[in-house]
Amino acid sequence: MDAIFNRRSIRKFKDEKVPRDLIMKMIEAGRMAPSAKNRQPWKYIVFEGQQREIMLGVMEQGLIAALNEPSLPEGAKPGVLDAQNTLRIMRGAPTIILIINTNGTTPFGPPQDIFGRITEITDCLSIGASVENMLLTATEEGLGTLWIANTFFAHEPLRAFLGSENQLAGAIAVGFPNEIPEMRPRKTTEDIVEFRG
Ligand SMILES: Cc1cc2nc3c(=O)[nH]c(=O)nc-3n(C[C@H](O)[C@H](O)[C@H](O)COP(=O)(O)O)c2cc1C
Repeated sequence: MDAIFNRRSIRKFKDEKVPRDLIMKMIEAGRMAPSAKNRQPWKYIVFEGQQREIMLGVMEQGLIAALNEPSLPEGAKPGVLDAQNTLRIMRGAPTIILIINTNGTTPFGPPQDIFGRITEITDCLSIGASVENMLLTATEEGLGTLWIANTFFAHEPLRAFLGSENQLAGAIAVGFPNEIPEMRPRKTTEDIVEFRG
């Protein structure tokens, strides 16, 4: 409960490397998560040092390309601008973990049949459970994290960079926190629970 209540999205990090054993502890916690049909549809690619810079450069170019894309719907523009802000935050984190859905593919393909949609939903839920295990473990170890979905705005260039056919389901920025944010607003318990019986 301490880790659950103390975890915050951290957007300012100290200029200090994250020891490998702490990253491995996070991955170990992620590995133990429950998953639909025990498919364990996750893989984590840890970027540090120069490779991290190259990967973030690919994301930057991908976001610029998205902004300049004539077919970008007007409503999507704020999303790309927000992703550029997330990229700035990622640049301040010493370690970036990319989250791969090993059962997924590009989200830009044709709509799937019902079975495919249910599989994708349950795989995403499973990955969410795995990522949350990782974030809570990081909190317990004194690390700060930011769970990131804004990689989707540069999905195709990042996927090509990874050389993967799978879905890039997001990222986790990891580092030692350089801020102590207040708890962000939460719905009340009454808002989210209903007992019937
Ligand atoms: C699936 C998911 C995707 C998110 N993507 C981003 C993101 O791309 N950029 C960002 O700054 N925050 C991102 N967040 C962080 C949320 O904004 C944050 O969790 C929420 O505002 C609650 O704040 P807290 O984490 O400090 O409790 C994401 C969170 C989740 C769970």
